[in-house]
Amino acid sequence: MRELPIAARAYVTAVVLLGGYFVVHGALSLAPEDWKVVLPLAVLLALAWHLASPMQGDRAISISVGMPVALASVLLLGPLGAPIVNACVGLNATRLRWYMRLFNAGMGAVSAWLAASVYVGLGGQLLASNADFNVPRVLVLSFVAALTFEVANGLLLVVVISLTERVSPLRVWYGTLAQSALPMFIYSIFGLLLAVVWSYVGVLSAILVLAPLMVARWVFAEFALRQEAYEATMRSLIKSVETKDLYTRGHSQRVSRASVLIGRQAGMREDRVTTLRYAGMLHDVGKLGVPTAVLQKAGRLTDDEYEAIQQHTVRGREIVKDLEFLGEAIEGILLHHERIDGRGYPMGKVGSEIPEFARIIAVADAFDSMTTTRSYRGARSIEDAFEELRRCKGSQFDPVMVEALIEAIDAEGWDASDTLPTEALSPTENLPTMASDDDDPTAADHLSLPSAAPDDASELDGDPVDEHLTTER
Ligand SMILES: [Fe+2]
Repeated sequence: MRELPIAARAYVTAVVLLGGYFVVHGALSLAPEDWKVVLPLAVLLALAWHLASPMQGDRAISISVGMPVALASVLLLGPLGAPIVNACVGLNATRLRWYMRLFNAGMGAVSAWLAASVYVGLGGQLLASNADFNVPRVLVLSFVAALTFEVANGLLLVVVISLTERVSPLRVWYGTLAQSALPMFIYSIFGLLLAVVWSYVGVLSAILVLAPLMVARWVFAEFALRQEAYEATMRSLIKSVETKDLYTRGHSQRVSRASVLIGRQAGMREDRVTTLRYAGMLHDVGKLGVPTAVLQKAGRLTDDEYEAIQQHTVRGREIVKDLEFLGEAIEGILLHHERIDGRGYPMGKVGSEIPEFARIIAVADAFDSMTTTRSYRGARSIEDAFEELRRCKGSQFDPVMVEALIEAIDAEGWDASDTLPTEALSPTENLPTMASDDDDPTAADHLSLPSAAPDDASELDGDPVDEHLTTER
C-alpha cells in the first residue's frame, strides 16, 4: 500500500473502515433466518465476479452475473444484510493486491448499504420476508435502488482511480464508467427478477434466473476469444507490412475506419461492416510479397518495378484466401485498385462488376492517401480531398461511396491520428522518398498503366484529372 499517494491511502482506509462498520453492524443485528439468504448470496456473488467475462478492446463484450446478485441482496435483505453479501466481492480470486481487495469489499458494502437505505427509506418492502408485495411499487423502487448502487459504486471508484493515477475524476468517469452504466442497469432487471423468484423458491432461483445469464456469458466469452484471435492475426499481418513499407504505418487503420464510415453511411448491415473493417485493415497486405527495395525505392520506378507493385493486389488475395472469417473482404483486397471506368487493375472490371467492398476501400484509400503527408508533398486538407474525390467520381470512384464518405465525415468528423509523428514526415529526411504511391489519385509518377489507355490523347489533354488518374498506380 506504500506505493499509493498519501491521499489515496487515507481514502482507501476510510472506505474500508466504513464498509467494515456496516458489515459488523449488520452481522450483529441480523435475525438468524436471514443468514439462510445472506450466505448463499455471498457465495454466489464471490463466484459471479470471479466469472466476469473478458472485455475486448472498444467492444464491451462482457456479461457479468455479479450485478444481479448484488441488487437482489439489496431487495431481499435491506441495509443490514446487503453490505455483508456485497463485501464478498473482495473474496474473489483475482490477482489484485490485498488492499485493493479490501477496498472492493468496503466499496461493495458502502454502495449496498446506501442502495438498501434508499430502497427501505422510500417504503420498499424486503422481499426475503415478504412475498406479498406491491409489484409496480417494488419495480420502481428497485430501479431507484439499482441507480443508487451504480452511482455510489461509480463515485467511490472514480475517486480512488483519480487519487491513485492523479487524473481528473471527470476524465475517469467519462473514460470508463459512463460507458458501463447502461449494461449494468440492464443487469439490475435480472437482479429484481432474482429477488422476486427467490422470495418464492429460495436458493433454487439462482439456477432459474442466473443459469441463462451464465450461458449467455459463456457464449459471449467464446465470441470475444474468437474475435481476439482474428484481431491478433490481423495485427501481426499489418505489423509485417508496416515494417516493410513505412507509408502504410497507420494507413491501414485509417483506411479501415474510413471504410466503416462509408459502409455505415451506405446502410450496410453491421456484420458486413465488421468484415469491411477487416478488409480495410488488410487491403495492402499483399505488399508483403513486393520486394522491399521496390517499395522503398527513391525516385522513379521502372516499368517492371511498377508492375511488381501492382502485383500487391493479387498477392494480398493469396496471403489471406484461407482465412475464412474474412469472407467478402478477400475480393475487396484483390480488387481495391479497380476503377469504375474499367481502367484499374488487376482485372479491369467495370462499374457494378467491382464488388461493393472494393469500391468502398478505393475511396477510403484515396482519401487517406491525400490527407496524409507523403514524401513528395504535404498533406492536403479534407476539403481538397473531397473536391478531388468528387472530380474523380464516375471515372475512378463509385459516386455513391464518395458521397457516403463526405456525408459521414461532415456529420462525424475525421480523426487522422495514427499518422507518423510530424518530425518523421519531412519530405527529405527520415523516410524513403518514393516518386509517388499507388493510392493517391493526384500522384503523377510519369508511368502509364498497361490497362489505362495512355494513348487516349483526348482524355489526357482535355482533363487534367484524367491525366492524374492515368498515371496513378
Ligand atoms: Fe493498395
